[in-house]
Parts: sequence; C-alpha cells; structure tokens
Amino acid sequence: MDSEVQAKADFSGVRYAQCWEDADVLVEALDVQPGDVCLSIASAGDNALALLTRHPARVIALDLSPAQLACVELRVAAYRTLEHAQLLELIGSTPSQRRHGLYGNCRPLLGSAARDFWDARPADVAGGVGGAGKFERYFGLFRRYVMPLVHRRPQIEALLRGGLLEKRRTFYRRYWDSFRWRLLFRLFFSRLVMGRMGRDPSFFAYVEGDVATRILERAKHAVTELDPAENPYLQWIMTGRHTTALPLALRPEHFDTIRTNLDRLECRCQSVEDFLASEEPHAVDRFNLSDIFEYMSPQNYHRLLERIAKAARPAGRLAYWNMLVPRSRPETLANCLLPLTDLAARLYSQDKAFFYSRFVVEEVLG
Ligand SMILES: C[S@@+](CC[C@H](N)C(=O)[O-])C[C@H]1O[C@@H](n2cnc3c(N)ncnc32)[C@H](O)[C@@H]1O
Repeated sequence: MDSEVQAKADFSGVRYAQCWEDADVLVEALDVQPGDVCLSIASAGDNALALLTRHPARVIALDLSPAQLACVELRVAAYRTLEHAQLLELIGSTPSQRRHGLYGNCRPLLGSAARDFWDARPADVAGGVGGAGKFERYFGLFRRYVMPLVHRRPQIEALLRGGLLEKRRTFYRRYWDSFRWRLLFRLFFSRLVMGRMGRDPSFFAYVEGDVATRILERAKHAVTELDPAENPYLQWIMTGRHTTALPLALRPEHFDTIRTNLDRLECRCQSVEDFLASEEPHAVDRFNLSDIFEYMSPQNYHRLLERIAKAARPAGRLAYWNMLVPRSRPETLANCLLPLTDLAARLYSQDKAFFYSRFVVEEVLG
C-alpha cells in the first residue's frame, strides 16, 4: 500500500521543526507501559522522545521525509552531548548567541546525511533549530506582521501571563477579542493562507467547511479555559520561544530519563504504510499517528487502520488527531477497535495545541 500523501506533496524540506501536537495529551492517552513497543510518527522528534519517559522497550519513529529525520537526529545528538540548558538554547526555547558552537558539539554524532543537511543551514541553526520549518515560519509571519496590527506587546504579555480562570475569561472578552483579532485571525488561518504558507494545499484535499472559525474557537478555549502561562505551543507562536512552559520532552525533569533511554529509539525514513507491509501481526503496543489520516481518502484511511489493528497487540492503543478532517474508526472495524471516547474527550479539552478539531483514542480488541 503506497502512501497517498507522498505522491501529492513535496517532503524535501523541514515542514515541522517542532511537533505541534500536545505531548501531555499523547502520553496520557497511550499510557505506555515499561517494555512496550511503540510506533510514532517522527515529525521533529519531540513526541517520539516524550514516549521514552515511560520506559518502553522500543520507540520506532517513522517519517516519510528525510528532512524531518534530520531534525530528530539532531535532537538525539543534542540529548547525548549537551546539558539541558544548552539543549533549550539549540532548539530556540531560550535566547542564545552560541548556537553554532552547540551544533558543533552535536555534529560528530550525526550521520552524513543529517550533517550535510544542517551544515547547509547555518541560519536555521543560528535562529534555533526549533524554528526551522515551514510551519514555524508561518507562525513567525503571524507574530511579526499580523499580531502588531491587533494588539500591542504589553497586551500580548498580559495574555501569556494567564492567571485564574475568571481573570482569563474577562481579559479575553474585554481586551483581546476585538473585531480586528477575529478578522485577521480568520484571514491568516484560512484554508488558503494556511494551505499555501503553513502546510500544503494537498493536506486540505479532504477538508470541508470553514477552517478558520473552528480554529478561532479553539484558540479562545486555549487562552481562556486553559492557562497560557502553562502553554508552550501558544508561547512559541506569540513570542518565538518558550517563556514559562516547555513541551514535555524539553522539561528538565525528563531530560535524564530521555537521555538514558535514547538507545531504545529507532528512526526510519519510511511511511507507516510501508512499515506495516513488513511487520508481523501483534508486534506493536502503542501507536502515535499524529494526524496522518486526514491526508488520505476515507477508503485509504480504512485500509490503513485495518492494517494497524492487525499489527497491534491486544489491548494496544492508537492515538491520533483530526485537524480539519473527521477521521475515526468506521463501524466495519468495530470488532477490532474500541473508541475510548470519554478519555479522548477529556484529553481534547486539555489540548494546549489548539488547531485540532478532535482527538481520537482507540483500543485494540483481542
Ligand atoms: C502528519 S504531519 C502533521 C503535522 C501537524 N499536525 C499538521 O497537521 O500540520 C506530521 C509528520 O507526518 C509525516 N507523515 C505524513 N504522512 C505520513 C505517513 N503516511 N507515514 C509516515 N509519515 C507521515 C510528515 O512527513 C510529517 O513530518
């Protein structure tokens, strides 16, 4: 089974220099047990690394893009060679003037392809490797050109300071939710602009309805019902770095565990479809599938989900997001996959990466 999206979009550059999917939600959903075998979409590596905090036997990190795997490889080298504070500098979570030197420390640990890749991108290294993707550049445009037309710096800082629930709601209503905010947000996160500048038009092939209004509602949820002071994804979008919160894999309390478990991470430049073609049945316990299904027709999605269910061990779990396209287990697979709807809905309400319309958790029936 070929990957549908591989034929439609160009995967030669970095699309995602960070995983824009909430690792806290993922780790709780998958409930990885010591000794489990996990399969994770690699993206930039953060969420595959986050799974290592639960001591699985293996995390197989797959991506069909070599550029994404160069991001993962650099992160792995950074965990091995740098101290925690230096890792944050290299990523761009914290300011730094010495990223070239930090990259130089990691460089000997890279394979030749990843080394050539990063050697050719000194500006991306200097700016922080977590900002090097098309999606991060898109957020950079929002931060530099759209936000100044909407709110001044002190107001943005006040939003990010968060506070108690009632204070956040009042702040949003009184000081944030202006006509200009709604208009420019809707324009910038429209299918047209996001498709061309942030993602890829082909990623929207199966999207129906008004994309921007849905994302605007979720953004409101993220800054009122959730606390911006605890939201690293929002902080990066608004400031270009992490101010008071970090994604799970970058938190200091997980640094040593991830470093110790790095040998359990296997990176492969391969589609999930190709990987499953060679996999024995009942070989994987946990699947982090990002939102790959929404790049596929319903028919291809159903076929792939069936293969995943066959490759999974009984009582295994699948977690995936819907950004804009509804995808969840069809009735025809009711005998092998059980939706964990209450868990998924609870986690979705806590999801700090606010662009998704749904989070799905499914359990493999024996
Ligand atoms: C699915 S994308 C999603 C990122 C973000 N959530 C979004 O929607 O914009 C994350 C990663 O999955 C990879 N990818 C997409 N389809 C894949 C497939 N069938 N097998 C392996 N990797 C895939 C892409 O190369 C990308 O690095």
